[in-house]
Amino acid sequence: MSKSDFGLFGLGVMGKSLSRNLAQKGFKISLFNRHVDEVEVDVAKNFKAEYQELKNALAFDNVEEFVASLASPRKIMLMVNAGKTIDIVIDNLLPYLSENDIIIDGGNSNYKKTKERFDYLQTKGIQFIGTGVSGGEEGALKGPSIMPSGTKEAYNNVSQFLETIAARDKNNLPCCTYIGPEGSGQFIKMVHNGIEYVEMQLLAEVATILKHKGKNPNEIAETLDSFKDDANSYLLEITADIFRKKEGDSWLVNLILDKAGNKGTGNWATITSAELGVPNTLIASALFSRYISFYKEHRVQFHKEYIKKSVSRLNLADDDLLKAYQFVRIINHYQGFKLIQEASEKFNWNLNLSEIARIWTNGCIIRSSLMEELVSIFKETNTILIHSKISKMIIDCKPSIKRVVSDCVLSDVTTPALSEALQFFNGITTQHSSANIIQAQRDYFGAHKYQRIDDASGKFYHTNWV
Ligand code: 6PG
Repeated sequence: MSKSDFGLFGLGVMGKSLSRNLAQKGFKISLFNRHVDEVEVDVAKNFKAEYQELKNALAFDNVEEFVASLASPRKIMLMVNAGKTIDIVIDNLLPYLSENDIIIDGGNSNYKKTKERFDYLQTKGIQFIGTGVSGGEEGALKGPSIMPSGTKEAYNNVSQFLETIAARDKNNLPCCTYIGPEGSGQFIKMVHNGIEYVEMQLLAEVATILKHKGKNPNEIAETLDSFKDDANSYLLEITADIFRKKEGDSWLVNLILDKAGNKGTGNWATITSAELGVPNTLIASALFSRYISFYKEHRVQFHKEYIKKSVSRLNLADDDLLKAYQFVRIINHYQGFKLIQEASEKFNWNLNLSEIARIWTNGCIIRSSLMEELVSIFKETNTILIHSKISKMIIDCKPSIKRVVSDCVLSDVTTPALSEALQFFNGITTQHSSANIIQAQRDYFGAHKYQRIDDASGKFYHTNWV
């Protein structure tokens, strides 16, 4: 039997979709899914039988046979749960692998773990690629955005597979490119997800404001649709769809319990921002908003205690809302890419922001018309807030976001993304900040010293304050 070009390990939702995508593109693949008595039985075999495009695929539930079915150097993509499972799977595969075989981790793994695994596998002569894959089930099947990292040499061995199954950008180039060394691919996927959290939170706030303007879900969907001309995005489109969905006579969205889950990437993005000293206030705020949503019982109790009257109807113009929405999106992308840029400098990854924006223009969850613009903007500057196109938009949108945030504050409508974006912008544009007072306080109680504006040498001073 001829050997397969590529192996797919783990046939969950994403693994299945990627396998079908690879097979549809003509690659001969081997499929593996573990056997668990009565729970996971003949998963690979049954999956192969289900789809015509998998007729040439080989299906296994035995690791040794799966590995033996692959042509050398073997290329095995893991689509299993991030975390400990990855290490277990690697250790299960290792006895059967040969030098220069390549393992690709396509899950949402922590970038630091990817570096550890990379180092560990290097000692065994195995190449390791950590890759972000975005696009959900449909993206994986029809073309995801793929963010691989590791050595360039290992990437060159798998590029034909990853680039063929990836989505295409507007110039028909693959939304897959070599990102950089170590865990840089999973790092940028983590930031992608952080940006995703903020976009989702922002859309939820905009929809809530529309509700407080008196619109029903169908009207909310219509307003969101009307934003598409100026600020289209995949998340905007799906949010409009969500508001149209009915179940019987009810709008489905109104039947969903208001507790937002998460699988950890927003958490890591927040921790990483703190570790690298990058003020990524929007990701933190979107994450903590999900955590607040989880305190449902407290929310109900505190509402009874503190909120005595219902929200008065908001009278904001849709155009103000659109501009406020655009303002936050710019700040969100500024912060997200800033985190990438700082990591690139700190870890010597030499990341290309324009290329990253380009592979995020299609296939992934945060694809948008703004992302398209950023591809060319990043060719001119890494700091989008000083680009004339962006600063024009910010200046145009700022009066609107001020109106939106202040009206929401006065009406007790919670808008963390909108408010935080404005606060961040006010902070980052403040010439003389209040940080001199913080420095004085630190010096007062802890003799932490301060620098003076009348001494350009940067010397540190201490004062006896009493
Ligand atoms: C994607 C998504 C995907 C995902 C995460 C985030 O790019 O396809 O980001 O990776 O939806 O699971 O999910 P949580 O909201 O559960 O953290």
